[in-house]
Amino acid sequence: MNGATSNSPVIEPNETDHDAESRARSIRVLFSEKRIALRIEELADEIAAAMPKELVVISVLKGGFIFTADLIRALHRANFEPEIDFLKLSSYGAGTESTGDMNILFDLSANVADREVLIVDDILDTGRTISLARQLLVDRAAASVKTCCLLDKAERRLVDIQADFIGFPCPNEFVVGYGLDYAHRYRELPFIGVLSET
Ligand code: IMP
Ligand code: MG
Repeated sequence: MNGATSNSPVIEPNETDHDAESRARSIRVLFSEKRIALRIEELADEIAAAMPKELVVISVLKGGFIFTADLIRALHRANFEPEIDFLKLSSYGAGTESTGDMNILFDLSANVADREVLIVDDILDTGRTISLARQLLVDRAAASVKTCCLLDKAERRLVDIQADFIGFPCPNEFVVGYGLDYAHRYRELPFIGVLSET
């Protein structure tokens, strides 16, 4: 131990600020790897029952990429052969509050006109992202647009929108893991959890 008081992080010799910050946080598991995997198989069956096989899956970056990767393989097991594309809209940046400022940061390469589209994202929070993505696809003359979000934080909604397919209702807490980040970190975690100070 060094001479730090109980309220300040203890920084060991040779330890970076990043290491010290990691030690100062712990993550409480909300949705385990196993639970997510089981729910995704069910979601793929729900999608397969409601949508045509000639589907374009649009993954909303960055947060949606891990969920999309698992969902399209579950769709394969349900005998689907989806085309995959990516869309990046402006995100939260380094903090935890939405700016309400939305831009297309990375556009689709597919022509979605007359196609059946499924938008896939990690979490439905204020609803701005999914609502903007949905409008973009409608404007580009998609034949139909459905939405699938792994998590739904219904309490936080500012835009009147529901997803067609939802993995889990999510409590009003900031969650990380399985594609979701806090300040660009924790996306790689195989589970979803809540950050808490130790
Ligand atoms: P919305 O536009 O407010 O619905 O926000 C959607 C985007 O904000 C999601 O796709 C996430 O990237 C991000 N986001 C919202 N809530 C959380 C959270 O609890 N943890 C991490 N990212 C979040
Ligand atoms: Mg996102």
